[in-house]
Amino acid sequence: MLTATGATKRFGNFIAVDRVDFAVSRNEAVGIVGPNGAGKTTLLNLLAGTYPLSAGSVSLDGLDVSRTDAAARCRMGIGRSHQVPRPFVDMTVFENVFVAASSGGSCTRAEGYKASIASLDLCGMLSNANRTAATLGLLDRKRLELARALATNPKVLLLDEIGAGLTDAEASELVTIILQLRATGITIVWIEHILHVLLQVIDRLVCMDSGVVIAQGKPEEALAHPAVIEAYLGSGVA
Ligand SMILES: Nc1ncnc2c1ncn2[C@@H]1O[C@H](COP(=O)(O)OP(=O)(O)OP(=O)(O)O)[C@@H](O)[C@H]1O
Ligand SMILES: [Mg+2]
Repeated sequence: MLTATGATKRFGNFIAVDRVDFAVSRNEAVGIVGPNGAGKTTLLNLLAGTYPLSAGSVSLDGLDVSRTDAAARCRMGIGRSHQVPRPFVDMTVFENVFVAASSGGSCTRAEGYKASIASLDLCGMLSNANRTAATLGLLDRKRLELARALATNPKVLLLDEIGAGLTDAEASELVTIILQLRATGITIVWIEHILHVLLQVIDRLVCMDSGVVIAQGKPEEALAHPAVIEAYLGSGVA
């Protein structure tokens, strides 16, 4: 459904993502792990169109979107959350989600309203709809970030460390929401450092290090790969 072929991103002389082939099928949930600086967020940015590719291509449903900007890819069904959520802090939760809905596939005000309510409901944020975003705690900010991504009505949802900083109990609440999303048929690509959280949701795991994919496959097989063990040695993640 969403495919990157030979995806490469250079920042000056530095290659953050180096000829990566990546694909996620419809209704699949793929996890991406790797040490800090492995290139995970950069790959997500290439898939979402946030950064232009230095080389390679990205396609959605067989259509080459390599030169399509992020706003257009969002309208085509690529939704994403950000590693560092930056909601409009002076706006309410509802207004934040409504702005996102308006930049997604919702054409009319009524459609945007409906999508906003539905995504707030799914994320357990309806009761917070009239709160100012600045007053939210971490879990609710994560829920808002998820609701904003969902309000764009994505076919594929790209999540960047949505569980980071949460307690185990809070992360479990997010897992419950994301499993409900899966049940609605949304395709998921999820970067997450908290492995036991990720493993509750994903079908397949992609492991990156130094800009390349070092292993992928069934989660337990990918994690047992010598290159993955070496990449994580001493980090305590794997
Ligand atoms: N806009 C940028 N300009 C220059 N270098 C960048 C830029 N974005 C990322 N990088 C570099 O590219 C490499 C990969 O960064 P990236 O954010 O993709 O890593 P990551 O795997 O998401 O790490 P983390 O787990 O810490 O979020 C890092 O060395 C980073 O410093
Ligand atoms: Mg990152």
